[in-house]
Amino acid sequence: MKILIVGSGGREHAIAWKLNQSSRNPELFAAPGNVGMMEIATCINITVDDIDGLLSFAKAQSIDLTVVGPEVPLVLGIVDRFEAEGLKIIGPNQFAAQFEGSKDFTKAFLTKHGIPTAAYGTYDSHEEAIEALDQFGFPVVIKADGLAAGKGVIIANDMVEARAAIDDMMQDLVFGEAGARVVIEEFLVGVEASILCFCDGLTLLPMQAAQDYKKAMDGDLGPNTGGMGTYSPSRVIDAVRMDTINKTILQPFIDGIHKDGIEFKGILFVGIMIDGDDIRVLEYNVRFGDPETEVTLPRLKNDLIDIFDAIVSQRLDEVELDWHDQSAVCVIMASGGYPENYEKSKIIKGFENVNDATVFHCGTKMLDGEIVTNGGRVLGVTSLGDDLETARACAYEAVRKISFEQAYYRNDIGK
Ligand SMILES: Nc1ncnc2c1ncn2[C@@H]1O[C@H](COP(=O)(O)OP(=O)(O)O)[C@@H](O)[C@H]1O
Ligand SMILES: [Mg+2]
Repeated sequence: MKILIVGSGGREHAIAWKLNQSSRNPELFAAPGNVGMMEIATCINITVDDIDGLLSFAKAQSIDLTVVGPEVPLVLGIVDRFEAEGLKIIGPNQFAAQFEGSKDFTKAFLTKHGIPTAAYGTYDSHEEAIEALDQFGFPVVIKADGLAAGKGVIIANDMVEARAAIDDMMQDLVFGEAGARVVIEEFLVGVEASILCFCDGLTLLPMQAAQDYKKAMDGDLGPNTGGMGTYSPSRVIDAVRMDTINKTILQPFIDGIHKDGIEFKGILFVGIMIDGDDIRVLEYNVRFGDPETEVTLPRLKNDLIDIFDAIVSQRLDEVELDWHDQSAVCVIMASGGYPENYEKSKIIKGFENVNDATVFHCGTKMLDGEIVTNGGRVLGVTSLGDDLETARACAYEAVRKISFEQAYYRNDIGK
C-alpha cells in the first residue's frame, strides 16, 4: 500500500511516524516532507500548493491513499481534484474547507445551528466595519475572513487599535484578499482548548484532548506563536465538560452539516473557549493541529490506516478509539527570536544522545551533510510517561541533549 503525505512540518512527521507503525507496512511518500521524514518516507520535491504536481505524482505512482496535513491545499480544492480522478484522500472538499478558509462561513454556520460562539458581525466595507465598532465593547476581536497563516486575528484594546487593525486589513490589505472582508467579534474570557475529531460525514469521533501553549514565553507571556508545546490528555477537559461539548458542539455540528448538505470527511479541529460551564466555539480548522498531533498520535493505539479507511468508506461508527494510559508531552525547540526575526542554518547536534523521546522535525534541512535549522519552530520533542510529570521530565531531558545556536524553548510545558 502506497501512502502520500502532503506537508513538511512536525504534524506531517508525526502522521508519517504513526503510519509507519501500521501492521500493513505501507510504503510512505511525502511532498515535500522534511529531513526527519526522510528516514521513513521517500520525500519528493513538490510544494503543498502545487495541486497539479501532487495529482500527477499520485497518478503516476498509483498512490492508494493521500493524507493532507496543512490547510492550504484543502482550501485550494485538492480533495475535489483527487476524488474526481478516483483517488482516495483524507480531508474535506473545497466547499467544506471553508470551515477554515472563511471565518464568516463558520460564524454563519454556528449561529444558524445554535452552536455557542461569540457574538459577531461580518463586514465587506471599511466604513461599515468602523461604524460597527460602536456596537462592541473593548477589547474587541478583529479577524481577517480568509487564511492568514495564523496572523489574521487582532485583539484590539481601544478604538485606536481597532481602527488601525481594520485599516491594515481592509485598506492596506496586509493579509491580501483574506482581509478584504472582516469579522468583528465579542471578546471572550476563559481557558482555550481544542478537540480534534475524525469525521466521515456521518460520525464525528473525538480524539482525547491535547492542551497547547500558544504564547512564546513561560507563564503564557509574549507574542502568539504557531504553538510552543502540548500535552495530552488535557487537564482542562474533564468528563463533565466533554459531555457538554458532545451535546452542545459536536452533535450539532453533525446535525448541521446534514441539514446544510455539507459533505465533511477528514479531521475537524474545534477550537473552544471555556469559562466555567460556558463553552463556546472560537473556530474550526479542517486538519490536524500542530503540535497537538505530536502528542495525540503517540497515545493512539489504533492502526491509523484502519481509521483512514473507515473515513473513506464512511464506517467510522464501527471504530472505537483506544488510547494508551500514558501521558505525552511535546516541547517545541525554536530558533531564538521566533515568532519575530530569527536566523537559519544553525547546525543541530545531539540527536544520537536522545532516548525515551521521539524527535519530530518541524523546520530543518540538510546542508553539507549536516542537519541544520530551517524555520522558526525547528523540532518537536515528544515523550510518554506514566503520568504528566514523568513525561515532562523525560521530554525536557531529551531537549537538553539537543543543541543548536540560539535554541529557544519554553520551560513550563505540561507544568
Ligand atoms: N472571540 C474571541 N475572544 C477572545 N479571544 C479570541 C477570540 N477569537 C479569537 N481569539 C484569540 O485569537 C486566537 C486566534 O483566533 P482564531 O479564531 O483561532 O484564528 P486563527 O487560528 O485562524 O488565527 C485564538 O486562539 C484566541 O486566543
Ligand atoms: Mg486558531
